[in-house]
Amino acid sequence: MIRVRDLYKDLAKYDSKEVVLKGWLRNNRSQKEFGFIDLNDGSCFETTQVVYGIALENFKEIQKYRAGSGLEIKGKVLVTPNNKQPFEIQALEVKLLADSAEDYPIQPKRHTKEFLRVHAHLRPRTNLFSAVFRVRSLAAHAIHSFFQEQDFIYCHTPLITGNDGEGAGEMFKVTTLDMDNLPRTDKNEIDYKKDFFAKKVGLTVTGQLEAEAFAQSMRATYTFGPTFRAENSNTQRHASEFWMIEPEVAFNELADNMKLAEDMLKYVISYLLEKAPSEMTFFNKFVEKGLIEKLTKIVECDKFKELTHKEAITLLLESGEKFANLPKYDDDLSTEHEKFLTKHFNGPVFVKDWPKEFKAFYMRLNDDNETVAAMDLIVPGSGELIGGSQREERLDVLLKRMKELDIEEADLDWYLDLRRFGGVKTSGFGLGFERLIMYVTGVDNIRDVVPFPRTPKNASF
Ligand code: 4AD
Ligand code: MG
Repeated sequence: MIRVRDLYKDLAKYDSKEVVLKGWLRNNRSQKEFGFIDLNDGSCFETTQVVYGIALENFKEIQKYRAGSGLEIKGKVLVTPNNKQPFEIQALEVKLLADSAEDYPIQPKRHTKEFLRVHAHLRPRTNLFSAVFRVRSLAAHAIHSFFQEQDFIYCHTPLITGNDGEGAGEMFKVTTLDMDNLPRTDKNEIDYKKDFFAKKVGLTVTGQLEAEAFAQSMRATYTFGPTFRAENSNTQRHASEFWMIEPEVAFNELADNMKLAEDMLKYVISYLLEKAPSEMTFFNKFVEKGLIEKLTKIVECDKFKELTHKEAITLLLESGEKFANLPKYDDDLSTEHEKFLTKHFNGPVFVKDWPKEFKAFYMRLNDDNETVAAMDLIVPGSGELIGGSQREERLDVLLKRMKELDIEEADLDWYLDLRRFGGVKTSGFGLGFERLIMYVTGVDNIRDVVPFPRTPKNASF
């Protein structure tokens, strides 16, 4: 048996040779004396055309083989340099390995993405989702390569934690307490001492705080794992379970941090353009026209545009554009503002030095006492792709900020230790992996770049 991928790699070697392929039938078009099967064997994005003729003893049965069926094919490789596909297989034997029932939902026609979401277990069999999930896998590899080539230490941070690392109150609880009979304290509060971990814990919203512990010893570290947010945002860009990449580097300041983010993005995009040409061409043709040009421009550009939050607001106010939400110096950017900025600069934009009020407690206070050394990278389509900052390394300033925000000191004592014992400057960021996949494929809904998405009111599969 051979894989179609192997044929593509060394086609000349297999010209006119007999091979055995195993795969699934995508489409079967039969005529009176011959027929064509589109076979996908899973080893690559491309499907292979198998031609079968009336001379085959089971010709009449082959004609009836249905979409989704598993097949074994013995045939001769015919190189076809003038066709769209570089070769086809002339069948000598076609064997049914696994029949597919008549009501198979993935028929050879256009299905809506909504329909396919309901059949998430079958959708990897379509071109779109095969391409998306192959690219997702390659992008994960590229991210590891990028950091490993620069000797970053991969840190596995815990998924179950007592820290609300972003202080936003969006943690899913993890408990083994009996919900119908909760143990109570004298004050009638839930007695978490009786719970599995003898304290209140949840699913992590970020690995950053633990990554900081590694940065203060290993210098350069990164996490790459699932994160969870019980954020009731029903948008195209929010998932309740998503993967995040979080590098953290000692001695780095905000400018170094932005450079790292830009280098990483360029590396991953170049990698995908090189390693997934068929998939990227498919997206360029059927999902986002001009995608490859957009991505190539990013790789080739000198430096991403960078402006402060204040400059961004001024630009929005002076643009003459009518916004539903009026841009304000003391407010967050809304989606329409982000859209305007990425369109205006025609590419990714770093917005830095944000008012401290709507950023997390750990971000370093700037000398103006009003803004923090934070940066968001916003991109067309995915909006905020990256959020990061230089961390507050000054214990007194950090303690003061935590007090202002009512964050319990005792819970984060270990984090404060990092400042007490040789806590140098560190900086880092979080890249939302799904938002990256949306950006590089042009797919506009986060539900379509996660194999089995979790969103509010949905945890099927
Ligand atoms: O901006 P966020 O909340 O930053 C952090 O969690 C920091 N601890 C990162 C750090 O500095 N180490 O999240 C980072 C990124 C966002 O820019 C976005 O791409 C993604 O994570 N993200 C989400 N992606 C999908 N669904 C959600 N609900 C997301 N929330 C954040
Ligand atoms: Mg953010």
